[in-house]
Amino acid sequence: MAQKNVQKTVLITGGAKRLGREIALALAQAGWRVAVHYRLSEQDAMETANACSKHTIGSMCFKANLNDEDETLGLIPSVIAAMGHVDAVVNNASTFELDAAKDFSYEKLTKHMLGNVGAPVILANALHEHVQARSAQGAVLNLLDQKLWNVNPDFLSYSLSKAALQMATQMLAQSLAPCVRVCAIAPGLSFPSYLQSAEDFERAAKYSLTGQISNPRDIAKAAVFMLENASVAGATLLVDAGQHLTAMQRDVSFL
Ligand SMILES: NC(=O)c1ccc[n+]([C@@H]2O[C@H](COP(=O)([O-])OP(=O)(O)OC[C@H]3O[C@@H](n4cnc5c(N)ncnc54)[C@H](OP(=O)(O)O)[C@@H]3O)[C@@H](O)[C@H]2O)c1
Repeated sequence: MAQKNVQKTVLITGGAKRLGREIALALAQAGWRVAVHYRLSEQDAMETANACSKHTIGSMCFKANLNDEDETLGLIPSVIAAMGHVDAVVNNASTFELDAAKDFSYEKLTKHMLGNVGAPVILANALHEHVQARSAQGAVLNLLDQKLWNVNPDFLSYSLSKAALQMATQMLAQSLAPCVRVCAIAPGLSFPSYLQSAEDFERAAKYSLTGQISNPRDIAKAAVFMLENASVAGATLLVDAGQHLTAMQRDVSFL
């Protein structure tokens, strides 16, 4: 993917903690230099970048609020200025706040749409401009959610933003080809939501075909596969332990 003799570099949004951290570490283990994006979690981001640098030297941290257009537009140029180039983006950062039809508002919708789908589009386009100028190849990986195949009325604005990101995955795959491949992963329950206690999480984990959570390591391995497989374009891989086939009346947070 990267030009000959140039180390491949990936930007991971929301890479400080949880799934973003797992993906950062798996990519570093696979030889990628990692740009760890964060908004509030500076200490965790530094710790993740240090852990990545044990596998691939030169990982760094970058701060931006992805709901702010100017800060989002500045992110790829900051990575290029500090690290020389970038070959891939993992759009992992996400706002995840509870609402439903009865308490829906433009404010809640906007909060989810800006960072969860607006930022991925801006970052994919910025990557495209950069790799095209280098006559190189790039890849974008968007993080969706098994919820799109297992619909229930909870987390309305979040779900709408992920549905839009699913559509953006296909449209960007078309419009940024051939120099940037765009694809997606749809995880199932892998870390407790902010509404779940440890016991809730343990109980909810059983609501999958395997009776287990979507192991973060497995999701991270799938992320490496999607970024490195040159024949994957415009596709989504469900990595959810079959959770999307267990019809749920409510979000898994409420089981
Ligand atoms: N966890 C699961 O079980 C699960 C299930 C299905 C799908 N997913 C998807 O997988 C991805 C990762 O999940 P997760 O649970 O690890 O994510 P998370 O902990 O909910 O969020 C990841 C990071 O996103 C960043 N973020 C949120 N809003 C932001 C904004 N406006 N600007 C910049 N950064 C922002 C935060 O960074 P700071 O802390 O630095 O502010 C946060 O740490 C998400 O896209 C999620 O939708 C997760």
